[in-house]
Amino acid sequence: MNKYNICVVGSGYVGLVTGSCLAELGHRVVCVDSDRKKLSALKAGKIPIYEPGLPEIIKRCRKLGRLHFAASVKEGLNPPGQRADVVFIAVGTPPRADGSADLSAVEAVAEEIAKNIKDYTVVVDKSTVPVETGDWVSRTISRFNKKGVPYDVVSNPEFLSEGTAVKDFLNPDRIVLGVTSARAEKVMRGLYASLPGPVIVTDVKSAELIKHASNSFLATKISFINAVSALCEKVGADVSQVAHGMGLDKRIGPLFLRPGIGFGGFCFPKDLEAFYWISKQKGYDFSLLKAVKDINEFQKSWVIRKVEEKLWNLEGKTIALLGLAFKPHTDDMRFAPSVDIAQMLSQRRVKIRATDPVAMPRAQEMPAMKGVTFCRNAYECVKGADCLVLITEWPQFKDLDLKRAFKIMRTPLLLDGRNLYDPAKARAAGFTYCGVGK
Ligand SMILES: NC(=O)c1ccc[n+]([C@@H]2O[C@H](COP(=O)([O-])OP(=O)(O)OC[C@H]3O[C@@H](n4cnc5c(N)ncnc54)[C@H](O)[C@@H]3O)[C@@H](O)[C@H]2O)c1
Repeated sequence: MNKYNICVVGSGYVGLVTGSCLAELGHRVVCVDSDRKKLSALKAGKIPIYEPGLPEIIKRCRKLGRLHFAASVKEGLNPPGQRADVVFIAVGTPPRADGSADLSAVEAVAEEIAKNIKDYTVVVDKSTVPVETGDWVSRTISRFNKKGVPYDVVSNPEFLSEGTAVKDFLNPDRIVLGVTSARAEKVMRGLYASLPGPVIVTDVKSAELIKHASNSFLATKISFINAVSALCEKVGADVSQVAHGMGLDKRIGPLFLRPGIGFGGFCFPKDLEAFYWISKQKGYDFSLLKAVKDINEFQKSWVIRKVEEKLWNLEGKTIALLGLAFKPHTDDMRFAPSVDIAQMLSQRRVKIRATDPVAMPRAQEMPAMKGVTFCRNAYECVKGADCLVLITEWPQFKDLDLKRAFKIMRTPLLLDGRNLYDPAKARAAGFTYCGVGK
């Protein structure tokens, strides 16, 4: 297998995992980040994100001299005695107020790449971007690439999920390569040669669309089952049984048919918005995506509707939130439903207590979480509370001793936002139990 020199620009959830895993495959990698604090942490051997399996890989690859960190694209592209064959753009593409993707970081990195490449380089877009971004990246590079150094732009979207990112990267369902030349395709195939999973080679625009369409489709599945769960509650049916019956149909499949308090995180909400926005800009009103978003917003109010139904006035009552991250096994709080739920509760002057195994430091930094009392564990959190709301299905919370929790709460109300608990066991422990769609 060929070993390549690689530069990864952006060392966040995607860039750091990409760079570290490529180093694990044997390539020589320099990860770049403009955030000085993050960079010095990385250089000091501290991992700024929680991602199972990542610290071990980083430690190993640094020891083997295959993984380095740098502060600038210039340094990352031209480390001593080397030159990057491939440069990945893995910076953030956050949502603007109108829902479109903010691509200013992608443009800034493209300009830096153009100014610092010295020989043929494959420029890979790993960030999630709207269709036609590859064309813009290519135009930007040709504008600032005064010496006319040859390059190719590739779209190689990332499908990893936080919490299982290392496993996902090393065992992909598919590797998508949107290419414009056989030369770039050969390099990209070489880069991933030792990974399992089919390689799909497409044009750049199709690759960009595969990512946005995949995330929007998954979000649609979640909103669909959440809408079904609302109907189940109205007629007294059980959404878990409905989802099981649906999921056994091979054309539907069981995954992403779990109802809950809405999807969040740095991908689904913003990618759905950006896909809707770019479709509209191109002249197609993708109204289905708008409905998916509306259902998700409604779903986030499930906790408020239930708690008002059961506790009447909320002023002065205490509500315990178990879990803050948007999903288990991550510390990522970006667009986590817990933030919207905490805001809705504080508007009703509820006393909020909360705990999370790893996301609390990030939650504590958020202005929206001001006023929340953070607790060291689930029992401290539920002590004296009028309601326990399960927000994130961490294994620690699944193992909660419900009888013990019942004894220390003021009012034994359990709102199971992820259908984590067995309703019969919760009721046997003394709780008034409400699951989603049950
Ligand atoms: N997080 C996920 O689960 C996930 C999965 C697939 C795809 N993506 C996509 O990957 C991209 C990155 O997401 P993320 O979650 O890793 O974001 P992130 O915010 O964790 O990381 C982005 C990093 O880029 C750095 N950066 C920004 N501008 C820079 C510049 N000019 N030069 C150098 N570094 C710069 C930031 O400091 C930050 O560390 C986004 O487009 C996202 O949609 C994310």
